[in-house]
Amino acid sequence: MTKQDTERDPAVTALMPPAGGGFPNPGLPPHELRQADVDPRSERRAERIVAALFVVSILGTVLFVASYFLFTPMGTNLLAEPGTLHAVKWNNFFTGLGLAIAVFFIGAAAVHWAKTLMPDHEMVEERHHLGGDPASQKQAAAIITGGLDESGIGRRPLIVTAMVGALAVLPIAVLAPLSTLGPLPGNKLHHTFWKAGLRLTRDHDGTPIKASEVAMNSIFHIMPEGLTEETEDFLEERAKAAAVIVRIDPEIGQNEESLANGYQGILAFSKICTHVGCPVALYEQQTHHMLCPCHQSTFDVTDGAKVIFGPAHRPLPQLPIEVDAEGYLVAKGDFPEPIGPSFWDIHKEK
Ligand code: FES
Repeated sequence: MTKQDTERDPAVTALMPPAGGGFPNPGLPPHELRQADVDPRSERRAERIVAALFVVSILGTVLFVASYFLFTPMGTNLLAEPGTLHAVKWNNFFTGLGLAIAVFFIGAAAVHWAKTLMPDHEMVEERHHLGGDPASQKQAAAIITGGLDESGIGRRPLIVTAMVGALAVLPIAVLAPLSTLGPLPGNKLHHTFWKAGLRLTRDHDGTPIKASEVAMNSIFHIMPEGLTEETEDFLEERAKAAAVIVRIDPEIGQNEESLANGYQGILAFSKICTHVGCPVALYEQQTHHMLCPCHQSTFDVTDGAKVIFGPAHRPLPQLPIEVDAEGYLVAKGDFPEPIGPSFWDIHKEK
C-alpha cells in the first residue's frame, strides 16, 4: 500500500479492492421465507386473492360488453339522449372502464400469483458459452419442465380455471364491436343511379346537355337526371354516379368498342379512379389523357380510358350513351361494370 493510499478517507479505502485484486464473492443475501411459504392459511388466502383478481377481470369484460350495447352513441343509452355528445361520453367511459378493468386485473392476478405463491428461491447458474449442444438442450428442457411443475399449475385448479376463464372471456371484448359493423353492401357496389333513358346533366346546375353543346376537346362533369337530395342514399348515389364527358375527334379514336358506346366522339366515363377512388377530374386536351391527382394514374380517352401510367389497374368504366329525340345526351344503361376501386369479386354479378 502506498503512502498516498494510507492518506485516503477510510470510507473510500473500504471500497478499494483487496491487495490481491478483485472482490470476494459477496454471495446471495439470506433467503427469507414469505408468509405463504410457512403458513398454509396465508397460502390459501393468497390463492383466493389471485382467483378473485381473475374474476374481477371477467367482470370488467362483462361490463365492457354490456355497456357497449346499453350506452350506444346513436341507439339505446341509459344515461343520455342518443345522438348527443353525452351519449358518446358515457359510451366511451363505460367501455373504456370495462376494458381497463379486464386487462389490468389479469396483470394484477399474474403479479400477485408470482409474488406470493410461485417459488422464489434464488438460483445460481454459471455462465457458459452460448450454444445448443444436446446436453444444454436437455438441461433447458428440464428447467422448463421443472418451472412448470414448480408453478403449481397442476396443483392449483382454482387459479388455473379462473385464469382460463379470464383469458377466454377477454376476446369477447374484441368480438362484440364486430357485431355492429353494419349491413353487407349487397349489390350496391355493382350498380349506380344511371339507367337507360336518363339524361346527362351538368353537375353544377343540373341542366341537361345537348350533343350539339359539347365542343371538341371540352369536358363536362355530369350527373344523372333525377338524382336529387330527396333520393334515398343521396350522397352515396351521387358519389357513385359522378362521371365526365369529353369529345374527341372520332378519327383519333383507337378503340372501336369505346367509340360505339359514345356518340359522335362524345364519350362518358366514370369520374371515380379505379385505383382508390379519387375523382379523376383533370383532362389534358393535347394528349387526351385524364389524370388522377392522387397518385397520378393516367387514362387514355382515345383508347377506352385504358391506364397508361400509375397504380390503377383497369380502365375507367364507360357509360354507354346516345341522344334522344330532342338531341339531349342520354344514358343507354348503367356502367357495364362496378365503378371505383376494384374488389375481389368485382366481376361476379350480384
Ligand atoms: S386514386 Fe387515382 S391514382 Fe390513386
